[in-house]
Amino acid sequence: MFKTKMGVIAATLGSAVGLGSIWRFPAEAQENGGGAFLLVYLACVLILGIPVMVAELSIGRAGRSDAVGAFSNLRPRSGWWIGGALGLLASYLILCFYMVVAGWTLEYLWDSLSGDLFSGIASGDAAGMEQTFHSRMEAYISSDWAPLISTWGVIVMNAVILIFGVQKGIERASNIMMPLLFVLLLVFCGFALTLPGAADGLRFFFHPDFSKMTWGMIGNALGQTFFSLSLGIGILVTYASYYPSDTRLVPTSATVSVLTTVVAVMMGVIIFPTVFSFGLDLDSLRGTTLVFVTLPEVFAQMPGGRGWSVLFFLLLLVAALTSTLSLGEVSVAFVEKRLRRSRLSATLIVMLPLLVFSALCSLSFGALSDFKIFGETIFNFLDMFTTNWLLPITALVGVIFIGWFAPKGTLRGQVTNDGTVSRRIWPVMEFIIRYPAPLLILVILISGLMK
Ligand code: PFF
Repeated sequence: MFKTKMGVIAATLGSAVGLGSIWRFPAEAQENGGGAFLLVYLACVLILGIPVMVAELSIGRAGRSDAVGAFSNLRPRSGWWIGGALGLLASYLILCFYMVVAGWTLEYLWDSLSGDLFSGIASGDAAGMEQTFHSRMEAYISSDWAPLISTWGVIVMNAVILIFGVQKGIERASNIMMPLLFVLLLVFCGFALTLPGAADGLRFFFHPDFSKMTWGMIGNALGQTFFSLSLGIGILVTYASYYPSDTRLVPTSATVSVLTTVVAVMMGVIIFPTVFSFGLDLDSLRGTTLVFVTLPEVFAQMPGGRGWSVLFFLLLLVAALTSTLSLGEVSVAFVEKRLRRSRLSATLIVMLPLLVFSALCSLSFGALSDFKIFGETIFNFLDMFTTNWLLPITALVGVIFIGWFAPKGTLRGQVTNDGTVSRRIWPVMEFIIRYPAPLLILVILISGLMK
């Protein structure tokens, strides 16, 4: 059980704020028309994100078990446990490739600390610098051992925290890491906003280009909402089983969703002015390039750039760690409760095979790059299969379950804490969870099918 209110928010927010808001969001915004994407994303968080979060938290706190156990506690001897099993599968598959990117972050933090990242970089020659950072990244991620070792390093960090359990491990780590993350973000915002030419970047980010508003873009914004709020993945079901019974689910969901969105917006405020001010190409905002090429290029040109680089990769590592902890907890809780293992052995049962699976993902940039599943490398296949399919399907099963099939009064009891709070919001939540939420999730699935 989480001990304090702050712990509940820090852990849940820690799960939500991760590579999704920090790295995926600016790239999605760039591709989908800047401000227009931001507006649609905000609408998605409000209309769909908060209610789906309330739905999943309700399943978890009413079911009071791991993701699979929560569904079957609520509807024993039915097939609804599959809703939890899908989340379990999604979270484990995501861990396999997420750990790899978290590992790269660890390596870049290390290289910033040691100064290796910037050795041999000549300032003044912008094109040459971009080329050098690019080839370094390519050489690093496609080498066999170096990225594997940092990926395993992050897995070990996760295992150590998870072994300590929910209160002494996850809650304590989140209580330390989340405030640190916000301080780092504020420092970077302050820096970006004082750059010459920052206004052009802000104009791009906040000016909505409505010509980009297509069904595909709305599908992308919905997908981003799921990814960034950790929906459809068993995390919220698992975490809510550790919520005290007086935690109010609607304000908690609203706080977590708003703060996650604030982080994403802060990242936009950091990235776009920086990219404009340094005259960099907007195309350089794509995923891996943004973090591992474009930003190092900026740091190399800044006074005190090495220090900034250390702070940035620390920020990214902290964000990734609090998210991987939550992804890992879904499986650890499952093994602990369903297979009745001690915390220590559950963590080992989950993390040891992950060493192998994440290695396969890591090697898909190098030795295994020719090994394809449906024409994609292992890493890309897992990324696409989980984000486009498993997440929305799992969320759909969850909202239909709690909206229509869970024992009567479950949702109401959870939303109102058995009639003691938030009575007025309850009919709105119930309506959204029963009707528009499943329909909107179907839109994501169909837009994914049409891509
Ligand atoms: N919400 C976290 C992030 O945005 O990075 C962690 C995460 C959860 C990632 C669920 C992906 C996902 F499908």
